[in-house]
Amino acid sequence: TIINEPKRVFRDDHLGGEGVDKSIRKLKDLRGIFKDERAFENMDPETLVYEVISYLPVKEGTQGGVYFGVTSIFPGSVGGEYFMTKGHFHAMIDRTEFYWGIKGEGVLILMDEQRRVWAEKMFPGSFHYIPGRVAHRVANTGKELLSFAASWPSDAGHNYEEIARNGFAKRLIDINGVASLI
Ligand code: PA5
Ligand code: NI
Repeated sequence: TIINEPKRVFRDDHLGGEGVDKSIRKLKDLRGIFKDERAFENMDPETLVYEVISYLPVKEGTQGGVYFGVTSIFPGSVGGEYFMTKGHFHAMIDRTEFYWGIKGEGVLILMDEQRRVWAEKMFPGSFHYIPGRVAHRVANTGKELLSFAASWPSDAGHNYEEIARNGFAKRLIDINGVASLI
């Protein structure tokens, strides 16, 4: 019996083949998420901020399925606010998710529906359980690429609107070289 080659997950060329989706987010796609609008306008809108390579083996919305993705966030900041993901609640708001750190240093910022914010450090091997009804965003606080993996139910969906409208109640800012949640 043939033993098949598995899919591979690694830094720059994570997954290949059917069901694999790659999306990139440049600064111009992230208008409005950073506080310092002047600093934002002075940066190249084509700057790559993060990319997500997802393995979606079943149709979006399928019950009982599970998805896997690797997000890589480049180092950088806008007016001292670290490069970060848009952040979202799940469209099916009670759906949960796992994140785990692969490379680099960052912070997972979490916010519940009462807008209470807390955070966890991310580093290679760090492990994070994101409960339902909790919005999640990741910032790269380091000087190198931050990569982390995620796994979430295929019926979770993404609700970006709430965060696009009201943001998170706290921001992660570099203050004299220290990542501070303020
Ligand atoms: O499913 C997730 O929570 C992640 O794969 C994110 O989608 C990914 O990290 C990118 O963040 P966002 O979707 O907030 O742009
Ligand atoms: Ni999610």
